[in-house]
Amino acid sequence: MDSILVRGNGALSGEIPIAGAKNACLTLMPATLLSEEPLTLTNAPRLSDIKTMSTLLRSLGAEVVSLQDGGVLAMSSHDLTSTWADYDIVRKMRASNLVLGPLLARMGHAEVSLPGGCAIGARPMDLHIHGLEALGAEIELKDGYLLAKAPKGLKGAEIALRFASVGATENIVMAAALARGTTVLTNAAREPEIVDLVKCLRQMGAQIQGEGTERIEIQGVDRLHGATHEVVADRIELGTYMLAPAIAGGEVECIGGRLDLLGAFVEKLDEAGVAVEQTNRGVKVSRKNGRVKAVDVTTAVFPGFPTDLQAQMMALMCTAEGVSELHETIFENRFMHAPELVRMGADIEVHGGTATVTGVKKLKGAPVMATDLRASVSLILAAMAAEGETRVARVYHLDRGYEQLEKKLMGVGAEIERISGE
Ligand code: EPZ
Repeated sequence: MDSILVRGNGALSGEIPIAGAKNACLTLMPATLLSEEPLTLTNAPRLSDIKTMSTLLRSLGAEVVSLQDGGVLAMSSHDLTSTWADYDIVRKMRASNLVLGPLLARMGHAEVSLPGGCAIGARPMDLHIHGLEALGAEIELKDGYLLAKAPKGLKGAEIALRFASVGATENIVMAAALARGTTVLTNAAREPEIVDLVKCLRQMGAQIQGEGTERIEIQGVDRLHGATHEVVADRIELGTYMLAPAIAGGEVECIGGRLDLLGAFVEKLDEAGVAVEQTNRGVKVSRKNGRVKAVDVTTAVFPGFPTDLQAQMMALMCTAEGVSELHETIFENRFMHAPELVRMGADIEVHGGTATVTGVKKLKGAPVMATDLRASVSLILAAMAAEGETRVARVYHLDRGYEQLEKKLMGVGAEIERISGE
């Protein structure tokens, strides 16, 4: 397994290109199942999760041709040969469950493995099931698989989500696009990835209004046609790289970044004393003066502070002036980066869903372990401002969500290299 070596190397400067959004692409790709005509995605990120989704779609009989080294995905689901999403693929990537809604709508049935738990939580699917059953699906759990069928097709319904689940919203919207009649989804997730999915579905002929608000209305149509869609910029990659100069000092411009995708994250950076500016090329970030100030953060659904940036924000708070309280409200176990940061000299106490971080002047490099995608990158960020050398092991987690991470950080002056696995 590869490791990444990082040596604290002072202030950063230069440009970091922001790729297409992993979490948008992972819901846009299953949308190809809704139509017999080709769906092409441009600005697709070059990530292992995208390769996993391509493998899954191919296992269903879809064609997925990766062009421009993965930047363009030319897909076609004209002849689907299977509706079975195998545990072996789904256990590696929960987003595989996003084929459930489209397969039900297109084929009238689907057999999708439950993802099983992952490092950050149990990741149940009750909200997906509740929504699809409201559309007329019959779903039973057997041998770890959700066996779903809609013998009479799907019918529009009023659906109120208990929690604004991103994945449940995506599955329900995709299924409702081909249902008979109108669906009204309330307490829908408002994340930019949902907005991007609806933009693409609309280009395919779907009749949908209200994306980005908590009420989405879908008038089902008989069929959807092909389209070409550009994947929206990745707000989590953007937020991650905005924190690099905040932690290590200097000034970085994140090319292609859009502040409107980041919700409460921007205000929090401002409160901490990080200068952020939208330019016509992207987002410019620098640390206003000296040490950043400790701020309290509570993760929430969009437009609240993104849970996917909590670990990275903790890395910033480790050397901030004062005490910061980080409350993780979305997942039940998303502080695994804390003990690794403590190995680097951070002062962090975790009690349940709250981490209390008392800023120290400087962290010290140490061997640390990546545990999940966002925890891994928070260790890299912390290491860039630490004294000495940090070796982050198990960086395959990183490759799931960060395209060419070392190259992008080296490009702004970080001392970082990948060591091939022993
Ligand atoms: C999406 O996951 C993202 N993944 C996650 O990003 C992100 O952290 C999450 O949304 C929250 O923003 C993709 O888009 C591929 P949820 P998803 O359904 O859809 C509970 C990353 O690092 N829940 O909004 O799975 C669930 O257990 C990943 O890129 C139920 O209880 O998130 C969790 O506590 C990590 N029942 C909370 O809701 C359900 O049926 C949020 O889940 C579904 C979810």
